[in-house]
Amino acid sequence: MLLQRYRDSQRLNHWLIVLLFLCAGLSGLAFFHPSLFFLSNLFGGGPWTRVLHPYMGLGMVIAFAFLAARMWRDNLWIDADSQWMRQSPTMITGAGKEGVQPAAKYNAGQKIVFWVMVVTLTILLVTGFMFWHAWFPEGNILMRRIAVLLHAASAAILILTIIIHVYAAIWVKGSFRAMTRGTVTDTWAAHHHPLWHKEVKERPRA
Ligand code: HEM
Repeated sequence: MLLQRYRDSQRLNHWLIVLLFLCAGLSGLAFFHPSLFFLSNLFGGGPWTRVLHPYMGLGMVIAFAFLAARMWRDNLWIDADSQWMRQSPTMITGAGKEGVQPAAKYNAGQKIVFWVMVVTLTILLVTGFMFWHAWFPEGNILMRRIAVLLHAASAAILILTIIIHVYAAIWVKGSFRAMTRGTVTDTWAAHHHPLWHKEVKERPRA
C-alpha cells in the first residue's frame, strides 16, 4: 500500500530548488578559487557568470522560501526528536536494529538539516545583497569584506549540508520515490516515520 507524502507542486518546487542550487553553487565555486574558474565556462565565461550568479542565487532562495513556508511546521522540534538523537549512535553502528526510531513526518536529523538550510540561505541572501555591485554600488568597504567572508562560509556549510541530505536520501532506501513519485510504501513509513504513519492512518479519508 502506498501513502501520499508530497503533492506534485511540492516536488516541482523541490526540483526547481535543486536546479537553481546547482547553477548558483557551480557559478559561485568559479569565483571561490582560481582552480575552479573553469566552471565559469558552463555559464558563458567569466563576465556572464558574474552577472548570472546573483540572480540564480536569489531564485533559489525564493523557491526555497515557498517550500519552507509549507514545511516549517513539520520541522519544529518535538520530544520524540530528542529521543531520536539519543538513539542515533546505535542506528549508525547498526546496534539498534531491534528498536524503531521515533519520528513524525521528519526525523531529528532531517529537521537539523532543514534549519541549517534556512539559516545559511538567509545569510547568503543578506550578505549577497551587500556586495551586489550591479544594484548596490555604494557601501562600506569593511562591511562588504565581512559580507564576502560570511557569504563564502555559509555557502560552504550549505554545500556540505546538501551532500549529507542527498546521502541520507539515498541511504534510507525508499525515500527517493517520495520526491520523484510523491508516494512511499506503508512499510517505509511505519519503519522510518512511525508517528507520521499513525497520523496518516488515523486521518479521515476524503
Ligand atoms: C540532488 C539533490 C537533492 C536530492 C537528491 C534530494 C532528495 C530529497 C528527497 C528524497 C527528499 C524526501 C525526504 C523525505 O520525505 O523523507 C527531500 C526532501 C527535502 N529536500 Fe531535498 N534533495 C536534493 C537537494 C535539495 C536542496 C538543494 C534543498 C534546499 C536547499 C533541498 C531541500 C529539501 C527539503 C526542505 C526537503 C523536505 C524535508 C525537510 O524539510 O527536512 N533538497 N529531498
